[in-house]
Amino acid sequence: MVPGAIRLVTFVTSSPTASLLQTSEQVGTVATQSISIRDFNATRTFGSGCRNEFENERLVRTLKGLSETDSDYWTFRRDSLRAGTHGLSQYPAMMVPKMLEGLFKAIRTATQEPLSVLDPFVGSGTTLVESLRVGFDFTGQDINPLAVLLCQVKAGPFAVEKLKRSQAELLSRVRADRKRGIEASFEGLSKWFANEVAIALSRIRRSIRQEENKWVRRVFWVAVAETVRLTSNSRTSTFKMHIRSMEDLQSREFSTMDVFSKVLQNVVDRLSIEAARLREGNLLSRSGSYRGNLQIHLMDSTSAPSLRPGPQHDLLITSPPYGDNTSTVPYGQYSFLPLQWVDLKDISESIDPEMMRTAYEIDSRSLGGVRKYALDRAHGLMQFSPSIKAILGQLEGLPRDRAARVAAFCVDLDRSLERIHESMKHGALMVWITGNRRVGGLSVPLDDILVELLEARGATFLHRIQRRIPSKRMATRNNVSLTMREENIQILRSR
Ligand SMILES: C[S@@+](CC[C@H](N)C(=O)[O-])C[C@H]1O[C@@H](n2cnc3c(N)ncnc32)[C@H](O)[C@@H]1O
Repeated sequence: MVPGAIRLVTFVTSSPTASLLQTSEQVGTVATQSISIRDFNATRTFGSGCRNEFENERLVRTLKGLSETDSDYWTFRRDSLRAGTHGLSQYPAMMVPKMLEGLFKAIRTATQEPLSVLDPFVGSGTTLVESLRVGFDFTGQDINPLAVLLCQVKAGPFAVEKLKRSQAELLSRVRADRKRGIEASFEGLSKWFANEVAIALSRIRRSIRQEENKWVRRVFWVAVAETVRLTSNSRTSTFKMHIRSMEDLQSREFSTMDVFSKVLQNVVDRLSIEAARLREGNLLSRSGSYRGNLQIHLMDSTSAPSLRPGPQHDLLITSPPYGDNTSTVPYGQYSFLPLQWVDLKDISESIDPEMMRTAYEIDSRSLGGVRKYALDRAHGLMQFSPSIKAILGQLEGLPRDRAARVAAFCVDLDRSLERIHESMKHGALMVWITGNRRVGGLSVPLDDILVELLEARGATFLHRIQRRIPSKRMATRNNVSLTMREENIQILRSR
């Protein structure tokens, strides 16, 4: 820490939970202490509200230490394997489990044991699995029902013996089913599925609905989702729905039932391994339920009211989308076909059926999905985020849509930060993993934008790690990928 370095900076004095857009004129001044570990913008200072300066320095030292002995430490070039339940699906843009291991290790050396972790953009649940393995409480949220289904399966209860019995019963029920009725109905069904595939998926679906245990049914739905990905007429090389070539479609030969049995076996094996691991750590009850507090919510992190109001979490670890889903990673489009075959009631009784109406609906409800009035709404954020101001200024001369996309994403991101920050305990650690995408040939500095918006809410920036991504499964042919060879890990403390 730089001794005695104190200076005045502008600071939001109203409730840090209020929307930045609503409070833009209520700024005042407070004293903050400047300390030396900030490393991405030398002109910035730390807030004196941070009560954990000693812990902060120790944490940053530990993190820096990891890459001092191995400059490639954060790349995890040789450690991209997805063991246990990490490998249940091919969800887009999943986190590297080893990176979380490294972060947890560093966090544990520097702070009191964090007990309650929040991931408000939980996706396939990489943070969930790693949190369970070390015995933390966990809350995960996502707007995408497929992501929530994956997390529900990874959360247990791990009734593995029951699952294995039901697996055998399910397969014989499906084989005995001779009906040819189709159990799904949506626009484009015959385009995306060959008739025999649809008949086989229908038999599987009918049989799964006869299973009485909800977790077991969810496990089966996860296997169905992966089977759909492999057997539909959409290419597997892209997250967008993209029809295979005629030649490819005509030459394909497979049995949907064989694909499903293999996928299901893989899922069951992985769950058995994960359950054994958790049991070894004494983390499961006799019935297979996780001993800690575990919550998975299908919800929009920008607008859903906190289920339990007030600060609850000690640690946030998350990777939000890189930008609006339509032009970056279309999580919703990726999930559309699988979700047509899943019984949505098994994910949540309250899913809005409209969400499945088109392949674009989930993405349009996700961060940055609505561009109407976005530029006007983003205007108020500019005084809190010089980076938003700069990028919107640079995009001004380009077709209007470009600036509107970035603006819409920033506005939604800020709305989610309001909810998220208010549910963190005072002084909680927050780890945000972000990537800077390109729009109109310009790099959008999401890393700086995020830090600026959080600082405006009273959070304190501690450290940034830049890591190369050797193997993340990303879109390869659009300009998103040009900057997605790197991502940043930002570490902050909440107000
Ligand atoms: C980068 S992915 C998270 C991947 C995750 N870390 C993993 O390892 O699988 C971002 C997630 O944010 C979700 N998302 C986008 N907008 C959201 C919103 N408004 N509320 C909640 N989740 C949202 C997407 O559905 C997606 O699953």
